Amino acid sequence: MSTTLNQSSSQPRQHWVIGNWKMNPNRATAQTLAQTLASRLVETPLHTCKTAIAPMSIHLITIHEILMKVHTSPISLVAQDIAAARQTGAFTGDISADLIRETGAEWIIIGHSERRTIHHEDENLIGLKLNAALDAGLGVIWCVGETLSEREAGQATQVVSAQINAHIDILTKIDPRKLIIAYEPVWAIGTGRTASPEDAQQMHAAIRQLLTEIRAPLIQTSLLYGGSVKSDNAHSLAKCPDIDGALVGGASLDADSFLQIAKAFDIA
Ligand code: PGA
Repeated sequence: MSTTLNQSSSQPRQHWVIGNWKMNPNRATAQTLAQTLASRLVETPLHTCKTAIAPMSIHLITIHEILMKVHTSPISLVAQDIAAARQTGAFTGDISADLIRETGAEWIIIGHSERRTIHHEDENLIGLKLNAALDAGLGVIWCVGETLSEREAGQATQVVSAQINAHIDILTKIDPRKLIIAYEPVWAIGTGRTASPEDAQQMHAAIRQLLTEIRAPLIQTSLLYGGSVKSDNAHSLAKCPDIDGALVGGASLDADSFLQIAKAFDIA
């Protein structure tokens, strides 16, 4: 069960620490890392915080098999991308949500800034992917965040609100249990520069307010912070009342760091 009680509901919100492995590591290292995490979480279980890992698509089946060897896997499996197309067919290089679901993945990351910038994914494509994922029964880890110039221009909240409002049709019907939102300021991803706990908390509170205005049950949405989360800054982020966990890139490739971050959010 989970952890943070919010003001207008007695329901606690689920805490999550999710490792986004990106295009790392090779197969052997990925297997060892998954095995190490699973064994250590079985030996020393977390109480309230759930964990998940997002390996490369080509490793999902192998990693799923490793996690399934543990009686009740303490780690959920996340895919990093899906196609917008829903059917099988002539879509070279793509993998549909249904096919990702067959690997054992339960969640999908959508809207990550690296997909928005490197692959030019716009809100239209993000909407198609959100719908494809939800139709296939996947939960979505939906990333939003502003660039440095947008923050310096005082537009951070406006930019993030626009990213969320672009998919209001989805938010009005989504099962809240299938939604996690990750606030990842683009300037903090992979840079070693983290948003201050005060700035992160302020944005998380604004996102929660916006979600609640769209639909009351969305107050329960787990809101994660992402952007250079490490074991040494996780505790101060975890103290913020609206930060329900972390989406972790670089530090998730090291078992000790990832588990220390998960422990920081394992708040009773
Ligand atoms: P980082 O990546 O922790 O390496 O900054 C976070 C992310 O991109 O999700």
